[in-house]
Amino acid sequence: MAHLSADNQQRAEAIVALYPERRSALVPLCHLAQAEEGHLTEEAMEDIATLCGISPAEVRGTASFYDMLHLEPVGKYVLAVCTNIACMLQGAYEVLEHAEATLGIRTGQTTPDGMFTIEEAECLAGCDQAVCVQVNHRFFGPVDEEGFDRLVDDLAAGRLEETVPPHGVLSRVSREVDLEAPAVGGEQV
Ligand code: FES
Repeated sequence: MAHLSADNQQRAEAIVALYPERRSALVPLCHLAQAEEGHLTEEAMEDIATLCGISPAEVRGTASFYDMLHLEPVGKYVLAVCTNIACMLQGAYEVLEHAEATLGIRTGQTTPDGMFTIEEAECLAGCDQAVCVQVNHRFFGPVDEEGFDRLVDDLAAGRLEETVPPHGVLSRVSREVDLEAPAVGGEQV
């Protein structure tokens, strides 16, 4: 469990300063914190609450609403298999069952080595590549049982590190333009 790092605390204050209302920075700060640990820790949610001028319960209430935010530890790679209509018709449940059997876990669980979490997803807007699987929100498809095995092998071997960063990292590029830390007293520098 961890609080926001010093660097991210400073970045979080700069993000808050972009908004007319402090609480409007809530979701961006949740993503910032999630990128540190792969999920939102209690301590990080307390930090975010302080930064946004709201209660930790309000942070939790918002974070628990969004599928992209995780309040519990997840694997380095979150494999989200879409089972909505287009993917279902192409064998999504077979892929999901295969994923559970291959990794030895049920949907919603994480492998003991902390590498993989399986999730069942609603339509991921990748219907043209059914069965669509997202890995840490990066699209793969169409994925069948053999394709799933290749995907897991490539991830485990580190062959997709360029494409798929660890869970929580939305982008390796961070905004720097017009993002300045507030001066002491709350003024923009
Ligand atoms: S139904 Fe699976 S991505 Fe749309």
